[in-house]
Amino acid sequence: MAAVEYREEDGVLWVKFNRPEALNAINKDFVKGLREVVDYARNNKTVRVIVLTGEGKAFCAGADIKMFSESSHFVARSTIEELGKVLEEMEDLEVPVIAAINGFALGGGCEIAMACDIIIASERASFGQPEINLGIIPGAGGTQRLARIVGWKKAMELCLTGERISAEEAYRLGLVNKVVEHDKLMDEAKKMAEVIKSKSPYAVMLVKQAVNRGFKMGLRDGIMYERDLFALSFSSPDAEEGIKAFVEKRKADFRRE
Ligand code: CAA
Repeated sequence: MAAVEYREEDGVLWVKFNRPEALNAINKDFVKGLREVVDYARNNKTVRVIVLTGEGKAFCAGADIKMFSESSHFVARSTIEELGKVLEEMEDLEVPVIAAINGFALGGGCEIAMACDIIIASERASFGQPEINLGIIPGAGGTQRLARIVGWKKAMELCLTGERISAEEAYRLGLVNKVVEHDKLMDEAKKMAEVIKSKSPYAVMLVKQAVNRGFKMGLRDGIMYERDLFALSFSSPDAEEGIKAFVEKRKADFRRE
């Protein structure tokens, strides 16, 4: 069975991490599977939204610690480096990625979640960067994205203590967009995917670029960047249709190709 399974349905790419016996821990096959998902989304313009979730009681419990102990230093390190690169590519995709966190999102699992555009958590979910307990540090963007999301000092505390936090606490810190009943998790993810799908794909792509790339710039550069993307959106056929539809009091029919 593949470590990462995916299927496209009505414009949504449903992705499931599928190593429940190891709490969906990240090994070479897992990273290869995630790369395949990113390539698929990039090459198939019918995909409008991606939803990631995990099989069993974990979203993903991080890097496969057995791989760390059994493989060569080189294989283990290069697997995590490769994960980091795939996450950057996922962030750069034109389509939004929703993480539906069904359980543990620890170490690399929390890093995957943070590279997604929206995080919806089951009330059973928990988050953390426990690498410090293994004598290592996060290696796929964890220290950097966490500090930018929850703030410098809280990120420092979480990475230094390895403490695990609940979905509610993650929500309070702004790490999670919403917390939902466990049984409603996938319905909520679908609802969010449908809302995004109803928008202009071009505007969705520009929002994603403006927020994600702008976030990595200084404020002044970010505002200039947004201004350029706004000009692009403003001269697009979807803008013409969206504005016309509002004036004519009808639903906009955005381009689908
Ligand atoms: N790697 C490999 N196997 C793992 C794993 C991991 N990260 N996490 C859990 N497993 C395995 C366990 O070894 C166990 O397997 P066996 O049944 O064969 O013993 C199985 O999954 C179930 O796990 P537990 O019995 O431990 O389940 P639990 O409910 O008692 O505890 C847990 C759950 C708190 C998540 C605990 O499993 C745990 O602490 N896991 C490790 C989490 C961790 O440290 N992650 C960080 C990894 S390093 C990293 O991610 C670096 C990076 O930046 C990418």
